[in-house]
This record gives sequence, C-alpha cells and structure tokens, in this order.
Amino acid sequence: MGEQGKRVAVFGAGYVGLVTGACFAELGHRVTVRDVIPEKIAILERGEVPIYEPGLDELLERNRQRLTFTTDVGEAIDGAEFVYVAVGTPPTFSGDADLSAVWTVIDELPPVDHRIVVAMKSTVPVGTGAKVRHRLDARGLGHVGYVSNPEFTAEGTAVKDFMEPDRIVIGSFDQVDADAVAALHEGIDAPIVRADVASAEMIKLAANAALMTRISFINEIANVCEATGADVVKVAEGIGYDRRIGNSFLRAGVGFGGSCFPKDSLALKQLAANSGYHFQVLNAVIEVNELQKRRVIGKLSELLGSLRGKRIALLGLAFKPNTDDTREAPAFVLAGRLLAEGADVVAWDPIASSDGLHGVEQVTTVEEAARDADAVVLVTEWPQLRDVDWPAIVATMRRPVFVDGRNMLDPGAMRGAGFTYDAIGRAAPTG
Ligand code: UGA
Repeated sequence: MGEQGKRVAVFGAGYVGLVTGACFAELGHRVTVRDVIPEKIAILERGEVPIYEPGLDELLERNRQRLTFTTDVGEAIDGAEFVYVAVGTPPTFSGDADLSAVWTVIDELPPVDHRIVVAMKSTVPVGTGAKVRHRLDARGLGHVGYVSNPEFTAEGTAVKDFMEPDRIVIGSFDQVDADAVAALHEGIDAPIVRADVASAEMIKLAANAALMTRISFINEIANVCEATGADVVKVAEGIGYDRRIGNSFLRAGVGFGGSCFPKDSLALKQLAANSGYHFQVLNAVIEVNELQKRRVIGKLSELLGSLRGKRIALLGLAFKPNTDDTREAPAFVLAGRLLAEGADVVAWDPIASSDGLHGVEQVTTVEEAARDADAVVLVTEWPQLRDVDWPAIVATMRRPVFVDGRNMLDPGAMRGAGFTYDAIGRAAPTG
C-alpha cells in the first residue's frame, strides 16, 4: 500500500476530529478516534453519527473496517504512527484560547519507544507548538515529532474541504515529520505549504481573520448603502469580478457566528494584545459584527414601533445553513434582544434546536412560524426558504413585515407578494 495504510489516532470526536478521522480512513489509513465522552463513543460504535455534517455518515459507513472508536488512550495510541489532536480550544473569560484539553492529550501520551508524530489540528495560539515541543522534550519524548497541520474546513462542506482543499499547511520543527504528514495526505491533490510551526499556526488564524474582515467590510458597505440608496448585492457583484478582490465572503447579512470565527477572532486579538500589540483592524471587525447582529432590532422597531407584545418569527437558528450548530449564532443574539424588548419570539429551523433559548417557541414549519406574526426575520439562508409559497403566507400574518437578514429573496417579488420587505444594505422598504 506504499505510504498508505498508516495508523492514525485522532483525539477528539467533534466536527474536526470526526471529519479528519473519516477522511484519513477514506485515504486508506487505519484510524482510531478517541474521545473522553463515553456516550459519544457508544453512538459512533453503534454506527450512528452524533453531529450533522453532510457526507460524513456515508464516509464513516464506507470506511467502517478502518475505523475504531474508543475512550481509552492506550488503545488509541497502540501502534499509532500519527496522533492528531482535534480537541476543543474554547475561549476563556479573558478571550485567550483554553488549551487545557490540548495539554491533557500531550500529558496523557504514554511513553513510546518508536517515532510517532503529534499533529495539531485544533486551532491554537502562535507559540503553542514550541511549548508542546518543550514539554515533550522535558518528558524524554524528544523522538516524538510535532507538526502544526491546521484545518480549513467549514461546517456543512467539511468532508469536501478536507478531500479537496485549496492547500495543505504543514509546519514542522523537523523536515522528516513534515514529509511523513505530507505522505499521509497522498491521494489529495492540493499544494502543500511547508512552514515553520509558528507560521503554520499563524496561517490558520490569519486566514480566518481575513475572511471575517471581508464579512465585516461588506456589512459596513451595506450599512452605507442603506444610508445612501445603493444596493450592496449589486456592489458585491461589481467588486467581486475584480480578480484581486474575488467574489467569496462578500455576502452582507446579520453577521458571522459559529464555533470558529468569533472564538478565533478573540484568540488572535488576545494573542496580539498579550504581545503588546493593539490589532486595530481586528478589533473593528469584531465590533462591527456585534453591532451587525443587532441592526435587525432597529429595523423592526422602525417598522413596528415598540416591540413589546409583538410576535416575531425567526427563520433559521443555525449560524449558517446545512449545519445544526447554533454556537454564537446571530439568531440567538437576536432572540435574546427581542425577548428583552418584550417581544414574543417563535423560531423555525429544519434541524437546529432552540435549546438554551428560554422563552422561545420552536415550531416545525415556516407557515406555523409566520402565522399571526407581526414580522418575519430570515436569519439563516436555508435553501428550502426559496420554495416557500410566500404570497400565501402574507395573508396569515398579523402584519406582513419581512426582514431578510441574508438578502436571500427577491425584493421585487416579495414586495409584489404584499410584504413590507426590508433587507441588509438594499433599497429602503416600501409597500
Ligand atoms: C470557518 C472557515 O470558513 C473555515 O475555513 C475554517 O476552517 C473554520 O471556520 C474553522 O476555523 O474551523 P465555518 O465557521 O464552518 O468555517 O463557516 P463559514 O462558512 O466560514 O461561515 C462563518 C460565518 O460567516 C457564518 O455565520 C456565515 O453566515 C457568515 N458569512 C459567511 C457571512 O455573513 N457572509 C459571507 O459572505 C460568508
């Protein structure tokens, strides 16, 4: 099998770990996924998938023979040539990344006599690799290699992003380890960027920061469009054709959320601040995003007056379509603000749940959500929202107010259907 058929242990059975494990198995490697939560491992052992990620269940099913799941560190490491760290690095109260789960993996690594390579998939501050190296050396594990191999997969397209990435980044202290990790990816056609460990760590943080900057930039352009009568959708199209700019991540809306961007922006901001640098652009990107999530409240107040006692329907709870993930979802911030204003909030989402949103009524159809509502807010651009019979919905609402937080629907058609339709950075509402 040549370079294929390696033994890989993956620590962490979350989105990143499961996708990494399943994709390595698809490439022909034998993978053991280890997690500390027994229920999660039990679900995986039964052949079920604890998260919603398109294509992941098929991949796990197809590679069942090459995949094992365990809670036991020894079993995971036994015979492994690579140890992938894919545990969570949530923000602490100070905004720094909490690396305790990473350190647990490193400290639990049993003494091994053969060369294994520890590969960091989790997003970590620049300098983490150097600290891990030091800790391994101090434990007499100088022969254990270390690489930074960050992930650039987005939820909802994670399997495709892993198998057909724009690039693979490998940061190493030792060329041999970089070669081994590059070989592990054999079968994937993508440029490999080899770097030192610190630069690889920074590539991950900088890539996400660049994407967030584009979103906050277009959101501010949208806000100026609103004030001046321009249409941000046209503007994004017009600037996107410029090859130096490109057209991705220029969709204005209610702001970014998810398990990565908000956390990573804070981590990079804090990383810079801890080193004595005030990262002005990133601070603005974060602040713009916070304000953007709340702009819909202003729009609703303008259209409805006081929101007390008004029934507001939120369409979409997930932070983006094709995921059940609601971490840092704009819908949750919106719901919280609406409840605080005294509104009644009803929410629809095809797969995400309103768990944790006390006081929000969750319904199973768009029609139910809109019935008797004073306003509908489209928060997540679920594709099925294009197929809703909107003209039929107008008549069932108390007031036909529609705020399209993702600029998903056609303003002319929505107004033609009888809605008082407003969006983000588009012409002012009429009718
Ligand atoms: C993001 C990156 O896209 C991945 O490359 C990265 O690997 C991942 O974070 C990570 O660090 O793990 P993800 O958070 O899954 O992936 O989702 P995105 O598709 O990037 O969307 C993030 C947020 O930005 C969503 O709330 C989305 O609605 C918003 N967004 C995106 C916009 O508001 N406008 C856009 O034009 C694009």
